[in-house]
Amino acid sequence: MKLFSLANFPVDGKTVLLRADFNVPMEQGKVKDNRKIKAALPAIQYLLHKHCKIIIATHLGRPKGFSTQFSLKPVVKELQKRLPKRKIVLLPDCIGKDIRETIQKEKTQTIFVLENLRFYKEEEQNDSFFAHSLANLAEVYVNDAFGVSHRKHASVDAITQFLPSMTGLLFEKELQELSKGLFPEKPAVLLLGGAKLNKVGLVEQALRKFDHLLIGGALAFSFLKAKGISTGLSKIDPDSIVAAAKILQKPEAYKIILPLDFVAAESFSPKAKTEIVKYNQLKPNLVGLDLGPETISLFKKYLQPAKTVVWNGPLGYFEWSKFAVSTKEIGRFIGQLPDAITLAGGGETAEALTKFHLHHTLTHVSTGGGAAVEYLSGEKLPAVAALERSYKKFKGKI
Ligand code: 3PG
Ligand code: MG
Repeated sequence: MKLFSLANFPVDGKTVLLRADFNVPMEQGKVKDNRKIKAALPAIQYLLHKHCKIIIATHLGRPKGFSTQFSLKPVVKELQKRLPKRKIVLLPDCIGKDIRETIQKEKTQTIFVLENLRFYKEEEQNDSFFAHSLANLAEVYVNDAFGVSHRKHASVDAITQFLPSMTGLLFEKELQELSKGLFPEKPAVLLLGGAKLNKVGLVEQALRKFDHLLIGGALAFSFLKAKGISTGLSKIDPDSIVAAAKILQKPEAYKIILPLDFVAAESFSPKAKTEIVKYNQLKPNLVGLDLGPETISLFKKYLQPAKTVVWNGPLGYFEWSKFAVSTKEIGRFIGQLPDAITLAGGGETAEALTKFHLHHTLTHVSTGGGAAVEYLSGEKLPAVAALERSYKKFKGKI
């Protein structure tokens, strides 16, 4: 795989279009979690150091057309807090003559943020004209938006045919760290939670390359159901049961470790009275909301000798403290493993790690959700394919 990379590309003094993933969780008009913004700072600082004019392009949410609710204003406010001495200008649009002229007039080392790319349906349609209009603003393109690298969108894919295109510092770090989960040092353990089995590719890959797959979260109920075990009122996703049943038929299915017990309640409430029940004793009136103590011990036993741990998906309903025990305790345990490479991906997993202040105890917490899962499944990311094509097109012409 040959790509241009920001670290060794002559960008000095250039106008650079930096695709970032500032699709951050929002709460009451404010940025709730600024992790993705902080993760983009090294590339921004680097470009400032190289006296570039920086045009940041990102999406936020899934708007249908222009909408103030999805404006990047709060994101720019947060970015300005991180770079207090820098001039950061939010532009009212992401393409057009006026935008171009405003950028041209400003000095180098100014940071521009284009308004939400997804205000244009052409972004998600990977439209070449739209991509060309974006490319028209700059001289080179840097992709630092690892979290969107599984999307074949105009600002990720089509744009790379118009500008010499390279990986940013975060993008490269993500590939480098996550590749340790793709070629794991053994023993290797995949810890999988969340609600749905929408990551069959990751499970299949892990069945081949990992030693154990520990299944928690609501996902465990799909596996139990697929084995014909009653799961009471617990959250079940019908598609996941079908997927789980297929996986359980594979010769490597012996690697899958399911929970032994759950913390269950009679109602779905943060204050519900709880009881510990065996995995096959979930009565019709009970909902399983967290892994029980026997399961926590069992999972720790498998994790203890691991040299590689990949974690995707919370293990219980961690938003409510009564049901956060397994996610917190196993998270803490993984963070303390003395010589394991520990990787986590997925929005909810990162959210849980931040909530329990465990973020910095892991080797790497990806800024990608779907992108990390796709990469760890061994699939070629559309963004990487696009950067490779751009390399072939522009090499020798720089
Ligand atoms: C994300 O947060 O998952 C990325 O920014 C991609 O956004 P999307 O899932 O809306 O395409
Ligand atoms: Mg997503």
